[in-house]
Amino acid sequence: MSDPQSHRQLVVGNWKMHGSHAVNEALLEALKSAGPLPCNAAVCAPFPYLAQTAERLARSAISWGAQDCSAHEQGAYTGEVSAAMLADFGCRYAIVGHSERRALHAESDQLVADKAQAALARGVTPIVCVGETLAERDAGQTDAVVKRQLSAVIHTLAHCASEMMVAYEPVWAIGTGLTATPEQAQAVHALLRAQLHAATEHAASMKLLYGGSVKPDNAASLFAQPDIDGGLIGGASLKAIDFLAICRAAQR
Ligand code: 13P
Repeated sequence: MSDPQSHRQLVVGNWKMHGSHAVNEALLEALKSAGPLPCNAAVCAPFPYLAQTAERLARSAISWGAQDCSAHEQGAYTGEVSAAMLADFGCRYAIVGHSERRALHAESDQLVADKAQAALARGVTPIVCVGETLAERDAGQTDAVVKRQLSAVIHTLAHCASEMMVAYEPVWAIGTGLTATPEQAQAVHALLRAQLHAATEHAASMKLLYGGSVKPDNAASLFAQPDIDGGLIGGASLKAIDFLAICRAAQR
C-alpha cells in the first residue's frame, strides 16, 4: 500500500440514515477543523450527501465512503448505486453486508461477497461487516456464524482478499448500548485474523474494525486489543465531539 499512514488504526463513522444538508455542514466543519488525529478517520454518509461530504472534506485528513454499493456493474437496478459511480468521484470505502442490510434487505453471504468484489474491482475498499445475533451467541454459534460470513467473501475475492477490511459488529451490540467486552471482541477478531491468515499472507496488516456501541469511554480499551485495528462507529459518529474523542482513543 502506498499510503504511508496505512499502519495507523482506522476509525470510520457510519452515519446510517441520519443527517441533512445543514446538519452535515456543521458536523463536517467540526471534523475538518479538529486538527491532527492519531488515527486515520473516515465517514460513510448516505448517498445523497456523498458529494457534499467529498466537497467539505477535500484537502482534509478525513476520508469518506458509502454505506453500500450494488453488486452489479450497471443496468436496470432501480435505486441501486454502482461501485463505478462511487469511484467516479473519489469514494474510498464502501461498507457492505452491514447487519441492518442483511436483516432488513435479506442480503445473503454471497450477495455481500459479490458487493465486496464489485467495490474492489473499481478501487473502492469494501468494509465487510460480520457479526452474530444474540440468539446465535447464546446458542454458542458466534464462531461458526462469523466464519461462514467471512468465508463467502474470502472465497469470492480469492487473491484480492487482503484488499478488503473487515468489521466485526455483534448485532446485539449495535445501537443497544451493550458493547462486547474488549476480551469478547478480541476473541472474535483473533478468530477472523486466523481465518484470513489461512487465505492470504497479508492478514497481519489487514484492518479488522470493531463496531457496536463504541463510545468515547470504551473506545480506548477496545482499541488496545491486539487484533482490533480501529472501529466502525454508529450513533457516536453523529456528534463531532464524540467521534473525535473516539478517534483520539486510537492506539497505534
Ligand atoms: P452503534 O455505534 O450506534 O452501536 O452502531 C454500530 C454500527 O452499526 C456501525 O456500523
